[in-house]
Amino acid sequence: MNTRSLLKNLTFLNRELPVRFSKRIMELSNLPKELRDTEPFMNLITNYTRSFQELQSYSDNSRLWFLSPNMHHREELELDDSEVMQKAIQNEYADLLQSITNRHKQDVIYMAHGISLFKQYQNSRTKSSTEIQHFLSSFNRGRLGIRIMVGHHLALQHQFNNPSLASSPSFASSSEPSSAPSSAYLSTPSSAHSVRIGIIEPQCDIEALIQKATQSAQFVFFQHYNTVFPPNVHIEHAKEVGGRRVRFPVVPALLHHILFELLKNSMRATAEFHGLDKTSYPDIEVKLSSSANGDLNIQIKDQGGASNTICIDFPSIMGAMEKKPEKAAMGENLPLCGFGFGLATSRMYARLFGGDLTLRSITGIGTEANVQLRRLEDQIEQFHDK
Ligand SMILES: Nc1ncnc2c1ncn2[C@@H]1O[C@H](COP(=O)(O)OP(=O)(O)O)[C@@H](O)[C@H]1O
Ligand SMILES: [Mg+2]
Repeated sequence: MNTRSLLKNLTFLNRELPVRFSKRIMELSNLPKELRDTEPFMNLITNYTRSFQELQSYSDNSRLWFLSPNMHHREELELDDSEVMQKAIQNEYADLLQSITNRHKQDVIYMAHGISLFKQYQNSRTKSSTEIQHFLSSFNRGRLGIRIMVGHHLALQHQFNNPSLASSPSFASSSEPSSAPSSAYLSTPSSAHSVRIGIIEPQCDIEALIQKATQSAQFVFFQHYNTVFPPNVHIEHAKEVGGRRVRFPVVPALLHHILFELLKNSMRATAEFHGLDKTSYPDIEVKLSSSANGDLNIQIKDQGGASNTICIDFPSIMGAMEKKPEKAAMGENLPLCGFGFGLATSRMYARLFGGDLTLRSITGIGTEANVQLRRLEDQIEQFHDK
């Protein structure tokens, strides 16, 4: 990563982000008035508008003439000046992105809260929710695109500013809607020696990541049930993966999010199915296997009795939320459940890089979730070339 490629990325984002934010504003503005007028959605609209304006005015900023390769002014500057200027622009832009990032951390909580208010209002009516289902999948996809682009740029900038660091800073999980430290955007706890290219870790220690997601899920579980100890998670490798630690190219923040959501669900189902008065529960089994084409499969199997209300698509979320609007309350920083977004968001994350998330329930026994991960080499090369 050098200054030139970082500036290239910056120029691209500078052009692209205002467009993407304006699309999100359009989506929000097209929602039914009753939803748009709830306080959380008004907050969302205000935040998106502010971010759009900040990005737009940065985009119009005359300082950016410097980024244009054809400007003759450029030659008039001494090399030293030019380097200082480039660095200043880069850091200024990273600060702007970081502050926008912080502003949008609560997006999911606002969405869930707004929709739950809307559902209460809607209870007496029978209006179709297709519009909102469509909004949820499209808005979330758009948001994720922005998150990835911004997160990747911030990670690259961080790596550029700290060339001596082999890895991204070790922060807590960025899993939504959990709270993350203010500077942690798409960053995950990483092992001390893991090298990253932006947000991608070409040789991610998958088992370590599962253990971290387990700890986060157990922590949230314990916080939720207070005196109940969470089920243990047992990791097993299929023969073809061998006894060695599996290293696989992933975006750790996204995989951590998926595993965290799945493990939270499994822990909750197991404890509730067997009874909260128990002192121990059957383990949650995680199995790593790989297919002939080199893809990796992570299977998470619980004995949580299974449920017929599993919602894995955004279209089924509205129905699920109807049952539990009260749980999607504001101020819950680390909710075990209640938003009804966990699986749908996780599947979107898995599909983003060509993988998938599927679930299979065996009534009375438990649920088996399968996360398929595609090899990311092509994407890594693409990112590397930028
Ligand atoms: N492993 C599981 N066992 C039983 N039920 C599950 C499991 N995973 C998910 N579910 C069901 O699917 C619903 C949706 O899950 P999710 O999208 O994670 O949202 P949330 O956990 O916030 O409700 C859960 O409320 C639960 O009823
Ligand atoms: Mg969940």
